[in-house]
Amino acid sequence: MISCNSNKDLRVDLHSFSEPHRVITRHLDLDVKVDFQREIISGVAHYNIENLDNSKKLILDSQGLQIEKILIGADETTYKLREQDANLGQALEIDIEKDTKRVSIYYQTSPGAKALQWLNPKQTAGKKDPFLFTQSQAILARSWIPCQDSPGVRFSYTAKVKVPANLMAVMSAENPTEKNDSGIYTFTMKQAIPAYLMAMGVGDLEFQSLGAHTGVYAEPSLLADAAYEFAETEDMLKIAEDMYGKYAWERYDMLLLPPSFPFGGMENPRLTFVTPTILAGDRSLTALIAHELAHSWSGNLVTNKTWNDFWLNEGFTVYFERRIMERLEGKDYADMLALLGKQDLEHTADELGHNHLDTHLKLDLLGRDPDDGLTDIAYEKGYFLLRLIEETVGRKQFDSFLKNYFHENAFKVMDTEEFIAYLNHNLLDASPEAKEKIRLEEWVYGPGIPDNCPQVKSIKFKKVNEALSDVEKGFPLGNIETTDWSSHEWLHFLRQLDSEMSLKELKMIDEAFGFTNSGNSEILNAWFQITIPAGYSPADKALEHFLLKVGRRKFLKPLYEALYTKDPERAKRIYQKARENYHTVSTQTLDAIIL
Ligand code: BES
Ligand code: ZN
Repeated sequence: MISCNSNKDLRVDLHSFSEPHRVITRHLDLDVKVDFQREIISGVAHYNIENLDNSKKLILDSQGLQIEKILIGADETTYKLREQDANLGQALEIDIEKDTKRVSIYYQTSPGAKALQWLNPKQTAGKKDPFLFTQSQAILARSWIPCQDSPGVRFSYTAKVKVPANLMAVMSAENPTEKNDSGIYTFTMKQAIPAYLMAMGVGDLEFQSLGAHTGVYAEPSLLADAAYEFAETEDMLKIAEDMYGKYAWERYDMLLLPPSFPFGGMENPRLTFVTPTILAGDRSLTALIAHELAHSWSGNLVTNKTWNDFWLNEGFTVYFERRIMERLEGKDYADMLALLGKQDLEHTADELGHNHLDTHLKLDLLGRDPDDGLTDIAYEKGYFLLRLIEETVGRKQFDSFLKNYFHENAFKVMDTEEFIAYLNHNLLDASPEAKEKIRLEEWVYGPGIPDNCPQVKSIKFKKVNEALSDVEKGFPLGNIETTDWSSHEWLHFLRQLDSEMSLKELKMIDEAFGFTNSGNSEILNAWFQITIPAGYSPADKALEHFLLKVGRRKFLKPLYEALYTKDPERAKRIYQKARENYHTVSTQTLDAIIL
């Protein structure tokens, strides 16, 4: 029988075997070596544990880990690796005593470890040295560290990491800013974090400061470009603190990854991981930095209890991101982001079907890989719900509510039900009309896009729409004024372009605006969405080049889907060549489309 205690609510995460309501890990001392030859991380994870109900077992999550031995103090203890679940991996059951305080697991990862991507020198910017990075969210931390891999379990950590002497290691922790000769780096993360925020990068890295609390790590040949692109980060940090309270993590640095990184960004605390595909040269894709920074509050401070509550991480973060961008760039700019977001939301709801269960904010991911159910719905439907609340109660009131929410729930987990109770208690109970207008239950537990979804108008896109109608009229394209357009105007332009255009028209447009030769990944992606179905061959080479280089799933998925529909053989041929450049997060999605 499971006894009741104050931690019993931690049982609810169905994507972890770890039973933290019985025995919980509080602190990790990790001591590992990174072996690029064998593509293996090996070493020991020492945990300080708290036994909450006199249990005789500590249960950790693991996936593909080889356990060498487990010690309590100097003595070996017995353990079992339970049967393998395809999504969740294996429970590692360790025999402990009631008074056991520290457990040491000697282990190594397997070459196919899902969180890890080992890059050979050719896959890096410098072409000289290999590179390794981790991606732990949602449930991949267990493939490189035995851990209680549930967002509800937080632990502080230190780490000692040995890497080849010419490389540098960085983590989601206090970081070095220079290489040393020994190749041994030590890290401290004194705030407790969930396992999905454990992160490491190893490569030929250099650091450049951006401000008093911010900086960027990158391969040397990209450092200056990255520092230019991310120069507004310190201002974003000030704006964010001003809105929702003190930054809890001391420093905010970024690690610029090679292009195979499967996401745009990942909010690893103190060290956001970021794709180089946002180096547009004009700082026009940096809302992504505002997004990852915002996670320092929504997600990293107040954390979704399970992946079913993912919208609490991402919806809040998109809302916060757009507020930061509004302060930084003005309302007209933020309106463009919101309108593109609305298009994304409509597109995702259309794709899933407006009645699909995955269009609920509160998800039900039981028995599934969480990665499959984490869609734009959490981001954009979440955003529009928060915007609706803001518009209904007023910005001032909502801001003060949010500030308190982050403050009162810092370093805690939050689930949807608790959030609703908190919102009602602190904001909506006092205003029955607001409650009636918002229809919270329908947004959270119902499908599709509710009909009270806020309307977004964009002055800047109105101008783009005028340009579009000129294009349709065959207006000389050279006369269309686009010099002050950012990535967002171009995205809107490409998304709205008539999909029935002839090859001749596409060629004219391409010649006028240079899409095929664009260095901007978002523009290329949107352009290829048009050229693939149309069979516009002048873009073929650029498309193949893009697919071979970029591993960001958000781009790869729609591009390969379109390509497979048009020409399955070509899709397969390119994928076979490119696949080795992609992280498992991306190959898992793409294998299902192409193989
Ligand atoms: N935390 C997410 C990335 C993530 C989500 C990883 C789910 C694994 C599972 C990150 O903050 C994110 O949302 N990244 C976006 C960019 C953002 C601007 C919407 C991305 O990578 O595209
Ligand atoms: Zn996010």
